[in-house]
Amino acid sequence: MKYNFDEIIDRTSTSSMKWEKYKDKDIIPMWVADMDFKVAPPISDTLQQSIEHGIFGYTVIPDKLNEIIIAKLDTLYDWKIKKEWIMWVPGVVCALNNACATFGESQDKIVTTAPIYPPFLTAPQNCGKKLVTVPMIDVNHRATLDFDTLEKELKENTGLFMFCSPYNPCGTVFTKDEIHRIVELCAAYDVVICSDEIHSDFVLDEDKHHIPTASVSQTAKDLTITLMAPSKTYNIPGLGCSFAVIPNKGLRKKFKTSLKGLIPEVNLLGLFAAKAAYKECDEWLSQLILYLRKNRDIVQDRVNKMPGCKLNPIESTYLAWVDVRDTGLKDPVGFFEQAGVGLSDGIFFDQKGFVRLNFGCPRSVLEKGLKRMGAALKKQ
Ligand SMILES: Cc1ncc(COP(=O)(O)O)c(C=O)c1O
Repeated sequence: MKYNFDEIIDRTSTSSMKWEKYKDKDIIPMWVADMDFKVAPPISDTLQQSIEHGIFGYTVIPDKLNEIIIAKLDTLYDWKIKKEWIMWVPGVVCALNNACATFGESQDKIVTTAPIYPPFLTAPQNCGKKLVTVPMIDVNHRATLDFDTLEKELKENTGLFMFCSPYNPCGTVFTKDEIHRIVELCAAYDVVICSDEIHSDFVLDEDKHHIPTASVSQTAKDLTITLMAPSKTYNIPGLGCSFAVIPNKGLRKKFKTSLKGLIPEVNLLGLFAAKAAYKECDEWLSQLILYLRKNRDIVQDRVNKMPGCKLNPIESTYLAWVDVRDTGLKDPVGFFEQAGVGLSDGIFFDQKGFVRLNFGCPRSVLEKGLKRMGAALKKQ
């Protein structure tokens, strides 16, 4: 490997959200979704050049960046988009919130699936709308949508369906058939789709591929707002840079209008990092995927051997959604913290009895964390 993902980088005293939580404690943070890997050299180089230049004024979106995105989406997914469909925003979560505020009438509900990345659960209430969650179902050890229940919900006064693809936290990579079914249902009941595809680069199974929701048909294109970002993929979430792709002119106008004045432009460091990431870091990314695939295999094997723990095959993301209901633990997160591992609590994702483990870290750290978890469970 050209890049050393085994390198342990000290993130303490860097104001890292992930590491500050357990400051001065012997707890390995494996919760919030950022990775403990150094960024690819082209990203550091471009940021260094910017810092050396020393002026950080208001910035326009570099034309080149849009061109890179257009070419990238075409190469990766055969998805042909236009420059005017792209809108840069400082975060996927603010775009999600804006979609909730913008689409549907005030009395309409917003539908999503559960368990789900927590901001999906709070965004509707942030704008005074009602949230309805449709539980994911397990089919052959894979989390997928319950289309019958989804249809029942979409049928009645729904303005927006918030979709996460690939799926955080269960790691599902959705098939073309599944995406078509979602699109058909949303089209039938006049529901806009907000498709959060921030994890699209992390497909770990070699025989699976991410399919952008908006790319599956003309209908999908007309009703979908796609959210993407270099932040997870290239480990730059602190630089606040993401983008929405909205082909439908009417939806785009509404989305833009309601955002105006409320959020700042994307900062120049985020834009420059995004440009370097999408243009010059393909090799780094393919090596990262190989590394994460091996981490995933280790997690899969070890966790399933821990007493009371179950983990379905993880098709994508660097997150493991572990079913700990059979451990009998009342407070699984507290228990694992006691054992020296900091995980995310399923409660915040609307599914009690589960924990989420982030395996985007050097292998030795992962091994240490898993060893601690296994040993503590055996002792209890
Ligand atoms: C599904 C999903 N969407 C959005 C985000 C965060 O996006 P941003 O930092 O751009 O707001 C995350 C971070 O974990 C995520 O998992």
